[in-house]
Amino acid sequence: MTTSSYDIKDLGLAEEGRKRMEWAEQEMPVLRLIRERFEKERPLAGIRISACLHVTTETGNLMRALAAGGADVVLAASNPLSTQDDVAAALVAYEEIPVYAIKGESNEVYYQHIKAALDHNPQITMDDGADLVSGILKDRKDLIESMIGSTEETTTGVIRLKAMAAEGVLPFPVIAVNDSDTKHMFDNRYGTGQSTLDGVIRATNVLLAGKTFVVAGYGWCSRGIAERAHGLGANVIVTEIDPIKALEAVMDGYRVMPMEQAAPLADFIVTATGNKHVIDSNTFAVVKDGCVIANSGHFNVEINIPALEQMAVTKKQPRRFVDQYVLPDGRQINLLGEGRLINLASAEGHPSAVMDMSFANQALASEYLLKNRDSLGVGVHALPKNLDQEIAALKLRAMGMTIDVLTPEQELYLNSWQEGT
Ligand code: ADE
Repeated sequence: MTTSSYDIKDLGLAEEGRKRMEWAEQEMPVLRLIRERFEKERPLAGIRISACLHVTTETGNLMRALAAGGADVVLAASNPLSTQDDVAAALVAYEEIPVYAIKGESNEVYYQHIKAALDHNPQITMDDGADLVSGILKDRKDLIESMIGSTEETTTGVIRLKAMAAEGVLPFPVIAVNDSDTKHMFDNRYGTGQSTLDGVIRATNVLLAGKTFVVAGYGWCSRGIAERAHGLGANVIVTEIDPIKALEAVMDGYRVMPMEQAAPLADFIVTATGNKHVIDSNTFAVVKDGCVIANSGHFNVEINIPALEQMAVTKKQPRRFVDQYVLPDGRQINLLGEGRLINLASAEGHPSAVMDMSFANQALASEYLLKNRDSLGVGVHALPKNLDQEIAALKLRAMGMTIDVLTPEQELYLNSWQEGT
């Protein structure tokens, strides 16, 4: 491969990346089975796939599975701060997969990398946040004709794609991988739960027990964060705008209140709402001295960082991934990971065992798009239930568990309305 066909930090990191990808793969039995089948059946033979995903060990294993299926794959980062540079190097050096991703890249380089992924002339795009699809709509409409479709990993991406569909500008089918039960119920809850706490702890090394931990939002991601923060002994407060989710949080045992009341009590505030300016100047005005603020939502808009920059008189960096802002009244606010998703900025993202299911969905979604290219209409689709269930069944089997099956009598009962008391 020529050096112009990739842009990574250091090829010399490849050996470390290969070892870490192998380590991760031990926890990814479902994706491994799919890779082995893909190797035999080559269902993606010759198909150009451009992926824009967090470049992690788990993504590295997904790229290997797609390449084993015969796809011609390139990979760009889906966030400037989430790339694991050793994985990028290993994919280039050992798998001959072009990668465009450098941890800490500027916004300008980030978009150059997206452009490079689109210059691959994809037939399938695989997004985490819909940046490739929006790049096609904004700058590369010429690609639409040869596109088979796209797959989307995350809640925020699915929201963007549904907005495109509602406006009538989405030009091809998209599989919303996030809508599979084996994705959002596990990756978003257990993955974000564990990895966000991991990110906060690695960035700060601060004890959580006995502290007040405010979680903004109570969707699948934020409920995972709340659960794990509670598990570490923190007093958790939830803020919400949806009355049903707020009620759920109350019944799960958390205090619920508006952010303006929660902020003065908080030692930590973590956002995972998918919305912008959830933490704004009115929050900075009331937080207590030393408060730690982080985001685990997809985009770095949840915390109004420009407002904080304006309010602060000084800014220091006491540790990696911690920016300490001092306000005119002397209060210090510790912002983690520049407000980018903290689980990938200061930790390693979701653990492999949970990404196993997310990326099994991604691999099967690309195969499904291809097989059903003539019947799938323009729009945002979920993967069929049987594939979702197959992933869960394979995961259970890999975990050494078996479950009951319906008896013929029970099946009949479930399909009839005549039996009653
Ligand atoms: N999103 C969250 N965690 C991730 C991981 N480990 N790999 C890829 N994408 C992720």
